[in-house]
Amino acid sequence: MARRVSKRKKPLKEDYQLKERFKIESEVFDKNTLLDLYKLIKKEILKTVDYPISTGKEANVFRATTPDGTYVAVKIYKTETAPFFRKEEYLEADPRFSNIKDKDVVKAFARKEYKNLEMCESAGVHSPKPYYIINRVLVMGFLGEGDLPYPTLNMVGPLHGEADLDSLLEDIRKMYRAGLVHADLSEYNIMLGPQPFIIDFGQGVITRHPNAEKFLERDVAIILKYFAKFGIKRDLEKTLSWIRN
Ligand SMILES: Nc1ncnc2c1ncn2[C@@H]1O[C@H](COP(=O)(O)OP(=O)(O)OP(=O)(O)O)[C@@H](O)[C@H]1O
Ligand SMILES: [Mg+2]
Repeated sequence: MARRVSKRKKPLKEDYQLKERFKIESEVFDKNTLLDLYKLIKKEILKTVDYPISTGKEANVFRATTPDGTYVAVKIYKTETAPFFRKEEYLEADPRFSNIKDKDVVKAFARKEYKNLEMCESAGVHSPKPYYIINRVLVMGFLGEGDLPYPTLNMVGPLHGEADLDSLLEDIRKMYRAGLVHADLSEYNIMLGPQPFIIDFGQGVITRHPNAEKFLERDVAIILKYFAKFGIKRDLEKTLSWIRN
């Protein structure tokens, strides 16, 4: 009798735990995202999704771990905010992403971020290493120390004075030479480790984009204005011509 009870008890408890887990997960992730995460686990790209790093209006970012124990960041673009994604300005004029249907706009931004990260990696820019892309789910290198993600520049200000600005301008120059402009650069899209890392490349455009030069000027102006608040001053025109030459 006792044996029968204990035999039934265990699976029931496990069932309950599993049910609760799915309930919690499905409140956080929609069905398609859950399917994508399961695929990533099955393909052994991920082992666990650990905790949220950031929940925003366009995307949520989670810390996750790969089967070999490496930490990664998983960025999940949200579908419900599709109108936030300015398709015309950033996608249609980019020859890589013209002819995108409305329902695929968010996926296209995710794929675009992945491709831009690949360009950064080969250009030697300090940015997250691209690991994998599936639909709206992007897996990339985790920027942080131990369990803690690095702070964004707006939270801490430049920690290494001129050197932080020099590193950023070098990276912007490397990107430009590789044919890429970030187009959404600000202190909010820079994480500060031993040196700055540039993140959030969904809006990045190739230099053939008709507005690429305008975006480059805006990116650099925003960065110089931010550093000027800390007494680190550079001339905009000189900096732009250094980047372009
Ligand atoms: N590779 C990474 N490693 C660690 N943390 C990251 C990584 N990428 C992003 N983050 C964290 O997630 C936050 C949001 O990332 P990101 O800027 O790419 O998304 P977003 O498109 O701005 O999202 P939203 O606009 O919805 O806030 C960052 O500010 C940073 O704190
Ligand atoms: Mg951002």
